[in-house]
Amino acid sequence: MDRRSFIQCSSVLALSPLLPAMADTSGSVDITARTGEVNIVGPDFPATDVWGFDGQVPGKLIKTGVGRPLEVGVVNRLQVPTAVHWHGIRLPNDMDGVAGLTQAPINPGETFRYRFTPPDAGTYWYHSHVNAYEQVGRGLYGPLIVAEREPPRVDRDLVWMIDDWRLLEDASISDDFGAGHDRSHAGRIGNVPTVNGRFRYIVRVRSGERLRLRLINASNARNFALSFGDLSPSVIAIDGQAVTPYRLDAPLVIGAAGRVDLIIDMMGEPHSTMAVTDSFYRESFDLVKWEYDDVPLRDAPLDTPIALSSGSIPEPDLKDISTHRVVIAGGAMGGLRRARLDGEWMGLRDIAQQGYVWAINDTVGNKLDMPPLIDVARQASVRLLLDNQTAFPHPMHLHGHHMKLLAINGEPLGEPRWVDSPLLMPNSTMELAFVADNPGDWLFHCHALEHHAAGLGALVRVRT
Ligand code: C2O
Ligand code: CU
Repeated sequence: MDRRSFIQCSSVLALSPLLPAMADTSGSVDITARTGEVNIVGPDFPATDVWGFDGQVPGKLIKTGVGRPLEVGVVNRLQVPTAVHWHGIRLPNDMDGVAGLTQAPINPGETFRYRFTPPDAGTYWYHSHVNAYEQVGRGLYGPLIVAEREPPRVDRDLVWMIDDWRLLEDASISDDFGAGHDRSHAGRIGNVPTVNGRFRYIVRVRSGERLRLRLINASNARNFALSFGDLSPSVIAIDGQAVTPYRLDAPLVIGAAGRVDLIIDMMGEPHSTMAVTDSFYRESFDLVKWEYDDVPLRDAPLDTPIALSSGSIPEPDLKDISTHRVVIAGGAMGGLRRARLDGEWMGLRDIAQQGYVWAINDTVGNKLDMPPLIDVARQASVRLLLDNQTAFPHPMHLHGHHMKLLAINGEPLGEPRWVDSPLLMPNSTMELAFVADNPGDWLFHCHALEHHAAGLGALVRVRT
């Protein structure tokens, strides 16, 4: 074996166990929710008992093409009920995977077949939507890629599913899911950040190589602010949807449940190493290490186009639109005094005794099937004015639709963009608009999963 093919081999060896296995793209695939063992922290530690699809974390990469029918059979081999939500996909309500709202839970031993045709290309993910703060926290998630008809030319298309685990000394999962402090503060923030289920993730690269990097934040609640050192990545999509490419000039903020697609030209020296660091919270750390091979792939970056063509999400009619103010209140240091729980006004202390600490428009979202916050006719344009009156950031996710982010803190965006999980910072506002074209009752909730469990959720009803 000559040196070059050895390098190719060794990079394959280094990479392949770290990448999620790819599902066949025949349009039909099965995944089994079950227990498994994953070596998250590394060879010096025992493997971690997880719940994963096919026992893996992340679950296998499900890849399909835009406009192609997809069928996924979800087999439940856990001891508890589950269901799977296809995060960011505009699909029929009864395929949305919210047990207790859009379907009955998949009980142990049962199988549920999800069938839908993704209308928009992009980077999505799937995850449990039953006691998600525990089931996602134990590993029940995976990537879902809807390929463009004509993707931009790259050398490799990589998925990084970012997570954040709370592990004990023996690398087992701390089972304090839904702890009171997490519910009332920043959510479950862990101590072992991972990419594709591995702590201290290493990626072998070659100088001159062009990567498409699909970042998916599968953490229960952790947000990231990623820096790429001397590299100069271009953002090409946010929450799956194309944006006019722009170069990062500040750390890339990616809230829980958010996705960002980057194009990166790896222009480091052969044989050097570089890091991707996170600095969202106080201490900064290396999330990923790049290791360059000795042999460059090319000397100068490609200059082929990187822009994605934009999709077909309907544009809201800003002249004929119903406007809804959505005030988020509560949590620690939040100043919420009283709110309605099950229709009854109560003091926060009594509400907290039942495990709830957040409210939307003074209403605690303690049930999935509550009276809707917003109730509109099909095809109505809807404007949301989100007002975060709390001390914590909230990644606010709307099911079944994409929303156009128009303004942050009253400042209109130069280029409004589609989002499904925008990160609403403390004491901030956001203006969003969408066409309510997908009939059904849809969840609108904070994707800091402990916050949702503690009442930060509501329903949007789109009439048929
Ligand atoms: Cu990603 Cu309601 O979920
Ligand atoms: Cu929240």
